[in-house]
Amino acid sequence: MNKTILCIGAGYVGGPTMAMIASKCPDYRITVVDINPQRIAAWNSDDLPIYEPGLDDLVRETRGKNLFFSTDVEGAIRDNDIIFVSVNTPTKTFGAGAGMAADLQYWEKTARQILENAQSSKIVIEKSTLPVRTALAMERILNSQANGISFDVLSNPEFLAEGSAIWDMENPDRVLIGSRETDRGRQARNAILEIYARWIPRERILTTNIWSSELSKLVANAFLAQRISSINTISALCEKTEADVAEVARAVGMDSRIGAKFLNASVGFGGSCFKKDILNLVYLCRFYGLEEVADYWERVVGINVYQQERFIMSMLTAMFNTLAGKRICLLGFAFKANTGDTRESPAIFIARRLAEEHAEVVISDPKALGNARLDLAKIDGVFHYREDPYEAAKGCHALAVMTEWDLYRSLDYEKIYEQMDKPAFIFDGRNILDHKRCFEIGFNVYPIGKPPLTHFEV
Ligand code: UDX
Ligand code: ADP
Repeated sequence: MNKTILCIGAGYVGGPTMAMIASKCPDYRITVVDINPQRIAAWNSDDLPIYEPGLDDLVRETRGKNLFFSTDVEGAIRDNDIIFVSVNTPTKTFGAGAGMAADLQYWEKTARQILENAQSSKIVIEKSTLPVRTALAMERILNSQANGISFDVLSNPEFLAEGSAIWDMENPDRVLIGSRETDRGRQARNAILEIYARWIPRERILTTNIWSSELSKLVANAFLAQRISSINTISALCEKTEADVAEVARAVGMDSRIGAKFLNASVGFGGSCFKKDILNLVYLCRFYGLEEVADYWERVVGINVYQQERFIMSMLTAMFNTLAGKRICLLGFAFKANTGDTRESPAIFIARRLAEEHAEVVISDPKALGNARLDLAKIDGVFHYREDPYEAAKGCHALAVMTEWDLYRSLDYEKIYEQMDKPAFIFDGRNILDHKRCFEIGFNVYPIGKPPLTHFEV
């Protein structure tokens, strides 16, 4: 085996991506390193650090054969000439651009570490989402020493979505590789292209200049989030006009120019990427003096906050203008179904706001209770955690669906209703329940963007 790949950062992106490459390229030896020893220990155990359908099988198939997890970052840099970097790039919490710009300290530390330990030329691939022109900074750091070693920086953003990551990587709409248009740049690009071409049709592998590649990732996420904010604004209008947002989305989405996907109105979007990437885009626009463009994109995030606050106000008004002392069950805490990830989950906002209203919150989720506990640890309030949704709902005044887990579609709502305080309410933040049936059982039902079904005289 003479082909080797290193990935620095064993998170949601690095781990699954490398497991997929290992499975598709058995002749490559792939090492994934991380500075967090617990994370690496978990990747080497039967209890992987992230939940992702299909990931266990993929890791079982490849680990110890051509996929290795290690904490020896320095040694791995020496031994590998193709280095993917997927360390975290959170939003900056301090100094210039706090709350908006990407915090590049982990990226820069990694670049310096590569430089210190490299004994031969390397191809360094940005896998983490980064602001446009980060590659330039990286090139400058990496090529700052005249030691005969050269570094080619490529951008190869990841478009996988959590919960369907394995499927997404196996059947991507496209793979994007950005490089310099020089001989060396093209050579580096071909080395990476060769890896993906093992399982992805050539016409879906797109090559661009580095800056287009970096920007495309931010723009793809901004457009996706914008669709959700757009339909969420319409859900507010539907609630005032007796239109049904699902019917509107269907009618609009059947226009092939618009397309049907990503038009589900919800309590709001979450996840580690959308908000972060849009704010990053906004910061970039402001940096270049494009105030109007920045304002335009910033509203996408503003509407997402509005939608979550609207959800709370709808609960408050429906439940007689007070939530104090009421027990509310959150069905789901993950930011979407099929993941245990809770980063930026609307459930965090809703739980915090409910606590501010002095409600008692019972949280249920099949995969995310561990993360929920961490998220709420520093928030004042009474929070209970119950994996079993029936136990969670017992004695509650209301259910609020936060995550579209399939499991919640098929619960015995009659049984749940019997064990709740009356009048009992459902606030369906994902529009996944059979609202008419729940109403018939006795619930007062408040969907998103549809007229509520209540047993009260209006
Ligand atoms: C996203 C992008 O889809 C992916 O390409 C990128 O690489 C990373 O960011 P992810 O955050 O994992 O992926 O999940 P995604 O499926 O995009 O959902 C994001 C949020 O939007 C979730 O909270 C989801 O529930 C919400 N959503 C999605 C809606 O509210 N309505 C929809 O119609 C679709
Ligand atoms: P993502 O969702 O982008 O994959 P994560 O936060 O899940 O982000 O993962 C990023 C990983 O990168 C974390 O496990 C973190 O410990 C790791 N990391 C950060 N800095 C370094 C570094 N200098 N060297 C190695 N790993 C790093």
